[in-house]
Amino acid sequence: MASTLSSKIRTDHLPGRKESPVRRALLVGLALVCVALNAPFALAQKVELSVDASRAGAKIDRNIFGQFAEHLGHGVYEGIWVGKDSPIPNTRGIRNDVVAALRAIKVPNVRWPGGCFADEYHWRKGIGPERPVTLNPNWGGVVEPNTFGTHEFMDFLDQIGAEAYISVNVGSGTPQEAAEWLEYLTTAQPTTLEKERAANGHSAPYRVAFLGIGNESWDCGGNMTPYYYLSQLKIYSRFVRNFNPAQQDGQQMLKIAVGPGGGEPRFTSWTETVMKAWQNHQWSWDINGLSMHSYTVVNWDKKFASVGFGETEYGRILKATLEMEGLVSKYSAIMDRYDPQKRVALVVDEWGAWYAPLPGTNPGFLVQQNSLRDAILAALNLNIFARHAERVRMANIAQMINVLQAMIITDKEKMVLTPTYYVYKMYVPFQDATFVPVTFNPGTYTHGAITLPRVDAIAAKDTDGKLWLEVTNLDPNQPVEIEASLAGQTAKSAAGETLTAPKVDSVNTFEAPNAVVPKPISVKAQGGKLSLKLEPKSVTVISVE
Ligand code: AHR
Repeated sequence: MASTLSSKIRTDHLPGRKESPVRRALLVGLALVCVALNAPFALAQKVELSVDASRAGAKIDRNIFGQFAEHLGHGVYEGIWVGKDSPIPNTRGIRNDVVAALRAIKVPNVRWPGGCFADEYHWRKGIGPERPVTLNPNWGGVVEPNTFGTHEFMDFLDQIGAEAYISVNVGSGTPQEAAEWLEYLTTAQPTTLEKERAANGHSAPYRVAFLGIGNESWDCGGNMTPYYYLSQLKIYSRFVRNFNPAQQDGQQMLKIAVGPGGGEPRFTSWTETVMKAWQNHQWSWDINGLSMHSYTVVNWDKKFASVGFGETEYGRILKATLEMEGLVSKYSAIMDRYDPQKRVALVVDEWGAWYAPLPGTNPGFLVQQNSLRDAILAALNLNIFARHAERVRMANIAQMINVLQAMIITDKEKMVLTPTYYVYKMYVPFQDATFVPVTFNPGTYTHGAITLPRVDAIAAKDTDGKLWLEVTNLDPNQPVEIEASLAGQTAKSAAGETLTAPKVDSVNTFEAPNAVVPKPISVKAQGGKLSLKLEPKSVTVISVE
């Protein structure tokens, strides 16, 4: 860029024209300024934020920080389940290191058993002492031992303190199979299924907070038309019941229908079909959520690498991820037409970056690294969900461990926490917090043909009334000076943490697990104003006293 500007200056210098010393000095000065503006040590940009803590928005539902664990690659087997006889420290077969890490980010819910896997899953194969060995045709065609089934999943949830989001098999199962699974899980009555559950070690009914009715039924879930899916949805919604006595009053299981999978026109009509039917629905069926899937991919045929990339790929991926805003707005607007009271939530239950598989791994296992770029990507998406908190009340990043944009990567007994994990940790105070409006001019960061907002920010008050502010600096080269003026709130002190690293593709590895970890950041609080300096390519969360 600097050399381009210098050559432009030279071109403007017409041949034969006599150069005055003053003009020459001005040109040299201008060239130096241009070089300085492109240098990494340039002056910090300034961005002013106005935070109006006297105005309360919607609750940022803790369930937008949900996770997704599919029987895929090492997501479940090795990532969660190592078996009771494993030398890896475990509790009833579930690895202790992973449980401790997940407890620290207060996972609100886990979606299981898929994904595409869910529409081929038959729950009876995953209970009892004798488990048949089956196949996982979707994901690498490997053997599915069924050693991790219903009881193991519910035990895992119990250990990490999360709610169950179970996806029932609509593609290759039956309403009866799904209804019996829910009876097995939830009834307190002495039925044959209740006795079988007790014989398998759990006499008390389980809690199932969320029920997914199919997965991507327009594609891997059975290639259904919207009308065919709608007829299935009504049947499943009617007959798949939760009998848990503790969930009859106020804590009913929420039913989530398959919704759109991106911006293609076919998903507009899918969403319209389901929502229009819901608007006129009879007492005999209902839904509480409509799912949306959207991955960050620039080119499905030539996926970007998850590590070993530069500023261009950084910019292109972040630009692509910001399309989430348009998708959420588009489908919220359709839902508003049929559901102005926002009774049905938009549930973004598969999202995240999808890169090329790491060389040497089974391509069906969707193994990728997780870099600082992914941390910034996660923050941008969580902020979009928070800004749409009235409609987006649940989201599940894909996927929790060892698959796609994971929180945790394991290799046998080794475990490492990813940059994305640390974003989830820093955002814990935003769980169930009340959204507080922040206004700002984000400025721009430009690299080649890519222009992005320089800064993103959200604010919220937690359940104790404490104010929290998140600010992301997308610019990988320039620091940003933030000056935040607060209305409706005094600011005696402020403190927080920032997540950054030397390179956009910095990662945590088993050998160097602390390359990308949050560090304390100092904040000046004076006269109702906060000042802080954001490092380039960083995610920062602060609290205000
Ligand atoms: O997350 C991986 C896969 O992506 C899921 O199984 C499927 O629902 C989606 O297409």
